[in-house]
Order: sequence, then C-alpha cells, then structure tokens
Amino acid sequence: MTRTESQLTATTAPVEELEIARGCPYAPNAQHVGFQQQGRPVKVSLANLAPGAPVWAVSSHADIRTMLIDSRFSADRQKQGFPFQVDGQPGNFRRTMISMDGPEHRDVRRSVTAEFTLKRMKALQPRIQQIVDGCLDAMLAGPKPADLVSALSLPVPSLVICGQLGVPYEDHDFFQARSNKLLLRGASAEERLRALDELLEFLGGLIAEKETAPTDDLLGRQIVRLREEGTYRREDLARMAFLLLVAGHETTANMISLGAMVLMDRPEDADALRADPGKIPVAVEELLRYFTIAEFIPTRVATEDVELGGSLIKAGDVLVALCNVANRDPEVFPGGDELDMQRGARHQLAFGFGAHQCLGQNLARMELEIVYSTLLRRIPTLRSAIPTDELPFKHDADIYGIHEFPVVW
Ligand code: HEM
Repeated sequence: MTRTESQLTATTAPVEELEIARGCPYAPNAQHVGFQQQGRPVKVSLANLAPGAPVWAVSSHADIRTMLIDSRFSADRQKQGFPFQVDGQPGNFRRTMISMDGPEHRDVRRSVTAEFTLKRMKALQPRIQQIVDGCLDAMLAGPKPADLVSALSLPVPSLVICGQLGVPYEDHDFFQARSNKLLLRGASAEERLRALDELLEFLGGLIAEKETAPTDDLLGRQIVRLREEGTYRREDLARMAFLLLVAGHETTANMISLGAMVLMDRPEDADALRADPGKIPVAVEELLRYFTIAEFIPTRVATEDVELGGSLIKAGDVLVALCNVANRDPEVFPGGDELDMQRGARHQLAFGFGAHQCLGQNLARMELEIVYSTLLRRIPTLRSAIPTDELPFKHDADIYGIHEFPVVW
C-alpha cells in the first residue's frame, strides 16, 4: 500500500533554522543529533544561504545513501533554490562535475578517472613520501613551536596536487588565499565569486601556456587527449583544474591536522599504530568517519515529488546531507560517538556516496596514511603546544578542520 501525503510528514510544522557550526570540536551539532533521533528527513530553513527555499535535513545513513544515488535528486546547482551556490544566480554558476547530473556528469568525470586509479596513486607513493619528509625536515630545523598547518598539513596536499596537475607550487599563496575565501562562510557571495573568477583566470592562463607546449602532467595530458577527441575547450579544462586544485588540498589538509591531533592526544593509539603500521589504513578510515569534515558538501534538489524515509520531498525542495551525524548512525556504527581506531569504518560517508563519491579518495587516503605513519615514526615526541581543546577549530568554514596548530617536540 502506498502512503498518502497526509500519512507522510506534515509540512506545516514550524521550521527551525539549520545550525551549521559544531558545538563541541569532537561531536556533531546537537540539533543534528536530534534530527537523526526523529528518524526521518526534517524540514529546516537556511535563511542565509537559500532564503525561502524549502530545505530538508537528511540525517540517517540509509536516507543519505538513497538521496545520493536516486537520480530524482539533482546535483545541478543551476536549478532554482539550490543552496551554497557561489553567486546565488541560477544559470550563472561556473559549473564543474560536482554540479552536473547524468550522462554529462559521467562523461566529464570519466575524462579524468584514469588519473586517479589506485595504480596511479601507488606510483605516486614515493613522491608523496619525499614531500612529507621534506616538510618535516624543514619543520624540525626551524623554531619551536611550529605551526603544523603551515609546516605540514597545507603544503603536503598542495604540493601533491600541484605536481599532479602541473600547477607551479610557487603560486600557492595566491590559490590558497582564494580557496580559503571560497570555503569561508563569513565571505559574501561577491567575495566568493571574485575568488572563483580569479582562480579560473589564473588556471586559464596556465593552461594557455601549456597549449603551445603540453607538459607531462594531468593538464598537459588532458590538452593532448581532448584535442585528439575534438572536445578540447580551455574554459572546461580550467574549471576541472579549479575543482581538483581546491578539492584536492583543503580537505586533506584539514584531515592531516585533525588526525595528528588525535595521535598526540591518545598515546596508547599512537603506540599501537607505531608498533603495527599495517593498522594505519583502518585508523585512517575511522578518523575520516569520526570527523566527517565535508559534512554539508553533498546537497541536492528534488526534480519531482519523492518519498524519502517517511517524508514527502516536493519537486524543487532542497536536501542537505548531514553526513557527520549519519556517520554515527547507531544502526550502522554502534557506539559511533567513540573513536575506535580498530573499528574498520566501512560504509562511512566522509567521501559521499553514489555517482559523485569523491574522485580523489584514493589519493586522500594515501596522503593521510603516509603523513600519519611518518609522524609516528619520525617525531614520536610531537605534542600540541596548547591544550588541544583550545585549538582554533574551523567552525566558520564549509570544510571542518583547524586554522592553526602550534606544536613542539
Ligand atoms: C579527506 C579528504 C577529502 C574529503 C573528506 C572529500 C570529500 C568529498 C565529498 C563528500 C564529495 C562528494 C560531494 C557530493 O556528493 O556532492 C567529494 C567529491 C569530490 N572530491 Fe573529494 N574529498 C577529499 C579529498 C579529495 C581530493 C584529494 C581530491 C582531488 C584530487 C578530491 C576531488 C573531488 C572531486 C573532483 C569530487 C567531485 C566528484 C564528482 O562530482 O563526481 N577530493 N569529495
């Protein structure tokens, strides 16, 4: 028997504003926990980001998986009412694969998947190790306390993605400042749009130079391949480069800092991993689950009326996946509020799910494994210079993490 609309969620209930900042640095927002206890998607408002749009907070692990694989929920940010769009103007978004649907998304994503296979990542391993060692050598030779974020967390993934794309790392101040602005909630729509356009212009210029003499890096190889296919357009490649550059360093950087903090705070876990580095991949998965740093990134808009987990989502309604709380859903992760380095957090949603599941996840995992194992091996005495609960956590950014992290050894 199909349920009627009246048997589904009453849509007239008062609507709460969705809280964005985490209260406790180690726990999901208490409001989101309450939503999950209600056991179905809950109608909320996002007055600042999507004024007037009907928005649903989706918090159970099962509902989020459905939301992310059901093609009736679109990732297309050009659609009316989509939250978090950079300029707020439908039709005027600088589109990347993350906001495409169906065959268009499949084709664009497929054009770069060969660059991110596990095999390619394994081949990158020695280079990543070299980068990590270089950053640590410089940190150890410098004054104490050092800022772990600027000494290690940011440069490692930035150097890796720059090398992969063929973007000069010397320009990191320029692109990191803009990428930071894009992800900062306090930045206005105009500021975000300007940051985006400046990045696109910078990358477009770089790609133009590579057109005359294609280099052996992702951008150079794409130019050659797409020209052969007859589909090459500089603007498209600049948008791809932009997405990979921003998604490829900011996220991993924050996970490096948070994971390093845990290793300093929990010497017994650090000792166990140092004694058996083969367990580090399992620990990485658990850290990804526990912090779920990109917790609001998967957002979708319904293209038709759909019942999801007992709520009727109307065509045009927006859905926000509360991945952080879903990654502690007691149905899937019993005792999920506990950080258990041996859990083996399969099915965690930190990289999303479905067609848009993170393209760089193999790379991110490898970077994290190399960084944590190297820190454990090379600097067993590393510790925070201040109590870790006083660190400046990123409650103000779309990607959770730590702004600065003073460390001594
Ligand atoms: C710890 C690190 C990372 C986390 C937590 C993370 C998280 C995510 C999430 C949640 C999504 C899904 C968005 C959605 O469904 O709308 C995503 C997509 C994506 N990520 Fe990551 N990411 C990480 C690292 C990386 C790296 C290193 C790269 C690139 C080199 C990357 C590139 C991408 C791309 C291109 C997409 C879009 C895929 C598509 O739309 O098909 N990410 N990421």
